[in-house]
Amino acid sequence: MPSLDPTDWSDLRTLGHRMMDDMIDHLANLRENPVWQKMPGPVRDSFKNPLPATGTDPTTLYQTFTETIQPYVTGNTHPRFVGWVHGGGNPVSMLAELLAGAMNANCGGRDHSGIAVERQVIALAAEIMGMPPATGGVLLTGSSMANFVALLCARRHALGPQVRQDGLANTQLTAYASAAAHRCIPGAMDMAGLGTAALRLIPTADHRIDIAKLQAAIGEDLAAGRKPFLIIGTAGSVDTGAIDDLTALADIAAAGKTWFHVDGAFGALAALSPAIKPRLAGLERADSIAFDFHKWAQVTYDAGCVLIRDPGIALATFAQQTGYLAGAKRGLAAGEPWPCDLGPDLSRGFRALKIWMTLSAYGTDAFAAIVDETCRLAKHLEAIINSSDSLELAAPVSLNIVCFRRRNSTDAQTESLVADLQEAGAFAPSTTRIDGRLAIRAAIVNHRTTQADIEAFAAAVLPARER
Ligand SMILES: Cc1ncc(COP(=O)(O)O)c(C=O)c1O
Repeated sequence: MPSLDPTDWSDLRTLGHRMMDDMIDHLANLRENPVWQKMPGPVRDSFKNPLPATGTDPTTLYQTFTETIQPYVTGNTHPRFVGWVHGGGNPVSMLAELLAGAMNANCGGRDHSGIAVERQVIALAAEIMGMPPATGGVLLTGSSMANFVALLCARRHALGPQVRQDGLANTQLTAYASAAAHRCIPGAMDMAGLGTAALRLIPTADHRIDIAKLQAAIGEDLAAGRKPFLIIGTAGSVDTGAIDDLTALADIAAAGKTWFHVDGAFGALAALSPAIKPRLAGLERADSIAFDFHKWAQVTYDAGCVLIRDPGIALATFAQQTGYLAGAKRGLAAGEPWPCDLGPDLSRGFRALKIWMTLSAYGTDAFAAIVDETCRLAKHLEAIINSSDSLELAAPVSLNIVCFRRRNSTDAQTESLVADLQEAGAFAPSTTRIDGRLAIRAAIVNHRTTQADIEAFAAAVLPARER
């Protein structure tokens, strides 16, 4: 059997040091490169090769990486990437990924430091959100999975243990979220076997869930003999950054003994900011919260998290007894509960290390400042738009997302303007649809983005005569 380790480590060491130097240079000089560039056809075709039966020298592979992969990545590390809700990453997290790779810890379970670090991260997250110290949770790929896991916990809570054995049959369960909820919420209903038809997408008022309409929908379902089991609040909606009235939702959930979940994919971490935290009041009353460390906390992808107030429910939802994975009182198989019993994954990487190192290296005050500054930049962009004759806001600016367009522009013109900016490598905004019309969507998340970047972005969107 060939060993995959070299007999002489010196070449690999040299290559590793070179990679490290190059990647630090890459982060230090992000502005010298385009935000994004399209992968040319021949380069794309070079990733359609058959299985490599024999190996290639890692130094040659690294050369291939620098020429054919590195230049064509998403670009979200770049300060002028303002699309979707992508975090910028950070150098400490990058280094932590190297350490985690060297440890190659399987954090599904067992008694080792990886699990201790993950529990620390969950406890820190609960503290940020104002949840009790006994709160449980697991790290996942992202908020899509975190929302799904929370929904399965709510389903188990509503239907009891039998649902895991018998599945679903005429449950009559109904869930509620705003019409502005992320697509992963209907996706979770679908994957959980409850069906998207059992999700009531309640109309919004000012992009926030309309509380009176929610109450009316619950009333109608109760009158029809259905069983409301889950109310989902959004803290930072994907389109506009709107925050639902979480206190009102918590009250309604408490009155109906309904599970209260908050999708705070990016917005929940605004709880770090003393200025914004009051707008998240009610978050601390959630039964579960889904959010990402890879967005505002700038941890490298991927780093999603679900918090479950009662970890017993997570255990009841996911734990399984098998001989080959039994826990033990001592030895490496000790240390239950294991993350594999709190969520769907068994084999899991050491995501917690990069999160813990990021939070510890910079301190939470730094992230509060990033939240505040990105929101300030969004307001600055809003002011530029409001003072321009050629631009118009498409939605109010609630946090760090600004939706706008050129006045009197068609959807095709907006789409083309955004694609032009992206293809020029100058800026990477995205688009969304607000009230049926396409809008440019700037999501300012990256800790590297400055006021000058935002002013240059606004100038690039303005018609030439107004620049
Ligand atoms: C409000 C909201 N929920 C859920 C998600 C999905 O998160 P992820 O992409 O980490 O799966 C997003 C992504 O931006 C989001 O903004």
